[in-house]
Amino acid sequence: MKLGLATRIVAAGEDGAAKAVKCLQDGGLVAFPTETVYGLGCDAANAAAVARLYQAKGRPSFNPLIAHVADLAAAERIGRFDGDARRLAAAFWPGPLTVVVPKADNCPVADLATAGLDSVAIRVPAHPVAQTILRGFGGAVVAPSANRSGHVSPTAAAHVHVDLDGRVELIVDGGPVSVGVESSIVGCLGAPLLLRPGGLPREAIEAVLGRALAHPVASDPTRPLAPGMLASHYAPRTKVRLEASRVEPGEALLAFGEAALPGVDASTVVMNLSQQGDLTEAAANLFGFLRALDVKGATGIAVMPVPRHGLGEAINDRLRRAAMPRG
Ligand code: TXA
Ligand code: MG
Repeated sequence: MKLGLATRIVAAGEDGAAKAVKCLQDGGLVAFPTETVYGLGCDAANAAAVARLYQAKGRPSFNPLIAHVADLAAAERIGRFDGDARRLAAAFWPGPLTVVVPKADNCPVADLATAGLDSVAIRVPAHPVAQTILRGFGGAVVAPSANRSGHVSPTAAAHVHVDLDGRVELIVDGGPVSVGVESSIVGCLGAPLLLRPGGLPREAIEAVLGRALAHPVASDPTRPLAPGMLASHYAPRTKVRLEASRVEPGEALLAFGEAALPGVDASTVVMNLSQQGDLTEAAANLFGFLRALDVKGATGIAVMPVPRHGLGEAINDRLRRAAMPRG
């Protein structure tokens, strides 16, 4: 269902960024590229705009949003950084990392955007278009992934258009993203916890912290600490079958690496996340390939095993959610 807005798509560039800034200032909804996935942004301090954003996405309002800012100085106006949070920010910002920290006094982010929590999720994205928009706007921009709630995250402007045409004012097209899975989320409210595996590998985060991160999400997926980590998320309509060692008649194949599976014939639709077995390439391809395979009319999508180290942790997490029965 459309909400009846005229959605404009503009190319990234000076003019596109200026239009995005103006739209944010006017309380509008702007989809823009970050290096992980496209985000749907609005002025974090404007509660009415935040309410419209939840409505446009069809997102439950108890699921809080990430506040995006241009640099650490801006982040410290929103949240309180302890030693671990500051070490992580220094090492990985700008980049595919989100930290959850206690709200600063006079935190400008609307309560609706943090779902009334005392903490706030903050990210400094590296994508040049996101940086230009955030610097031009000046304030914090809350931005969930720019998809309808429960759908696969968008890694290209066309994916945003399919999900949100008529529901947002502006889509800034900056081409396909480079990372392809959402940011890793680290809770820094005490001992650091990995709330969501993502585009920054756990190993890199642990190397900077000098200790292991706990992973509460994997131990109990029905009770997520990041409230948005609901079990059935990132879901294509077609049934997804994991750890496939053969392809059944009528299934499409999401392959990884060079191995050939039994059951594949000339009629099988095959997309390979990475022929070379490269996890970075696989992450960048993941959501786009799931979207593409979802419209092939296959009876199911068989997925080959993907290694679990590095970016493989986030890839396996998203695949597991894509394969969950729908609630
Ligand atoms: O890469 C990304 O992180 C993308 C780009 C656009 O920045 N954003 C993104 O946002 O993935 P979203 O809304 O799809 O996911 C944000 C996650 C949700 O799981 C939410 O529950 C969690 O962050 N979150 C936000 N604030 C939180 C808080 N205070 N405590 C715990 N989890 C929080
Ligand atoms: Mg999302």
